[in-house]
Amino acid sequence: MTEASRPTLPRSGRPSADVIADLATKRNADVRWADGRAFGMIYHGGPGVDEVAEQAALLYLHENALNTRAFPSLGEIQSEVVGWTADLLNGPSTASGFLTSGGTESILCAVLAARERAAYKRGVTAPEMIVAESAHAAFHKAAHLFGITLHKTPVLGDWTADVAAMAEAVTGNTVLVVGSAPQYPQGVIDDIQAIAALAADGGFSCHVDACMGGFVLPFAEMLGREVPPWDFRVDGVTTISADVHKLGYAPKGVSVILHRTRELRRYQTFVFDDWLGGFYASPNLQGSRSGLPMAAAWAVMQHLGVDGYVDLTRTVLENADRMRAGIEDVDGIRVLGDPRFHLLAIAADPEADEPIDVFALGDELATDGWFHDRQGPPDSLHATVSNSNSGVIDDYVGAIGRAVAKIRGSEADDRSTSYSTID
Ligand SMILES: Cc1ncc(COP(=O)(O)O)c(C=O)c1O
Repeated sequence: MTEASRPTLPRSGRPSADVIADLATKRNADVRWADGRAFGMIYHGGPGVDEVAEQAALLYLHENALNTRAFPSLGEIQSEVVGWTADLLNGPSTASGFLTSGGTESILCAVLAARERAAYKRGVTAPEMIVAESAHAAFHKAAHLFGITLHKTPVLGDWTADVAAMAEAVTGNTVLVVGSAPQYPQGVIDDIQAIAALAADGGFSCHVDACMGGFVLPFAEMLGREVPPWDFRVDGVTTISADVHKLGYAPKGVSVILHRTRELRRYQTFVFDDWLGGFYASPNLQGSRSGLPMAAAWAVMQHLGVDGYVDLTRTVLENADRMRAGIEDVDGIRVLGDPRFHLLAIAADPEADEPIDVFALGDELATDGWFHDRQGPPDSLHATVSNSNSGVIDDYVGAIGRAVAKIRGSEADDRSTSYSTID
């Protein structure tokens, strides 16, 4: 931004109606998630869920969870949301955790706890962690921030983590091994039992990234779907992240980080008692913490209850099944691997007579408002299917069939992928 183009705050304030009208206009170019055409980023639980979240958000617009002595209600909200989640994830009675601002922060907390635990218990001073190449980029961010050497291991042909390669990467300095349930790029669940066994044998931590699956897999199991073992029933799993702001259908800004025991949870907290400002204890990476997402998550979870989540999950899984089947019927594209739940990746079918460019396909779909993140390698279009996409799957399958026919033989100039951006 040049100095000339730098925006300046108006000297006199403006009427609220004008300000809000401007904000509404700014949103015009944003993805049309309310039409159900975005496969990711926004997860919409329906009008009843919106209403309860909005009312809770208004009540807690100004509250600060920095100090739960000042706001004991937020302390209660936190322990109740964490407790309900621990219950859903089959945590033992000792399980405990905190609310964070999202999946990335939960992952950062888990990695930090693993490092601190290994330092305290085993004297590890040059910590290392092992993650498959499919694990979320937040683990790389954590390794970077916390000075941990990250060993990136390959995935197998079915896109799950190659556990034998992980085992080979274990050293005396390993503090953490990671499994995903499911992983983001192709939506498959790693062999959590085998990954957690490495941790149990080696005396280090095992994090299960269930940011996407935490509020789907428990209900899928209740619906009788086959769900491979992934939660605290698996020995060796020490921490799990589960995002209420994804398929838990709360508005953005809230995730749960769970530890198997309260003792393990201690390694993620920061306590400092040598400051002129007084005693400082911090559960996660934030200082001041908005009460809004915490209260909205509490309200949404109470409003839905287990039955509400089971109903939403039934719909989500039906949406995803129909979408996969529809894509498989289109000549030229295919779903990568065999994802059974709500995430999938669409790629060119190498066996098709005339392979197509999926990035050109993504561009064509976008002209009609359908939004996929572009990812790779390999070049593919990401879809996280949720209740947001209810009622549009048949339209989508028709649209992708037409789009493939239209872009056959053409190539997108822009080959970039952007899961997230800076500007
Ligand atoms: C598997 C997985 N882990 C972690 C994250 C990070 O979550 P957040 O964007 O809330 O920080 C995501 C986000 O999509 C994810 O899919």
